[in-house]
Amino acid sequence: MAHLISPSVLSCDFANIQRDVEMINQSTADWFHVDVMDGVFVPNISFGFPVIEAIKKHATKPLDVHLMIENPGQYVDAFKKAGADILTVHYEACPHLHRTIQSIKEAGMQAGVALNPHTNIDLLANVIADLDLVLIMSVNPGFGGQKFIQNALTKVKQIKELILKSGAKALIEVDGGVNLETGKKLIEAGADVLVAGSFVFNSGNPTKTIADLKNM
Ligand code: DX5
Ligand code: ZN
Repeated sequence: MAHLISPSVLSCDFANIQRDVEMINQSTADWFHVDVMDGVFVPNISFGFPVIEAIKKHATKPLDVHLMIENPGQYVDAFKKAGADILTVHYEACPHLHRTIQSIKEAGMQAGVALNPHTNIDLLANVIADLDLVLIMSVNPGFGGQKFIQNALTKVKQIKELILKSGAKALIEVDGGVNLETGKKLIEAGADVLVAGSFVFNSGNPTKTIADLKNM
């Protein structure tokens, strides 16, 4: 499978969301990566339902929603209603992860689980077969524009092995510090989906940057 690109709207111009959503619509991007932060699970607050609804109104590609929030299970139906197609929760925020994954699927979305840089991939062994997506964080969640943590490459290889060994179908997504250099290494390591925020939106030509990431 050719890899997918999910530009992170966290780095877009919020005074021009519609313009930036249209840019992604017209580009070779595959998904919209939508980062929700609650100021509790991570030391930053991004946006909530009204902004996701506004993105959904204009987006012609799936919304890949990354929840960096406590108690994500409580809001599954609300995120479905706001327009999420893929809903990813953090392993570290879910004491009842299996139940949360099932409720995401019952609500009609694809289910993902994200792992912080310190979280071992083996902890997903008992749910990997239920997942549509594993999100490997290659920065500590909370902010765009951080430096790529090289150990993410090892974790991508490890999770790829676990997926193959268990006959699971989950895609491997990587989020944080992705550019052409780190992106290429991640694809070689087995990543299926690359998230990129600041590398896309801080570039002079975001459409071309997305195409460059897609055509690596
Ligand atoms: C970080 C977010 C990322 C962020 C990535 O907590 O989950 O999706 O937007 O930004 P870059 O690509 O700038 O590292
Ligand atoms: Zn993210």
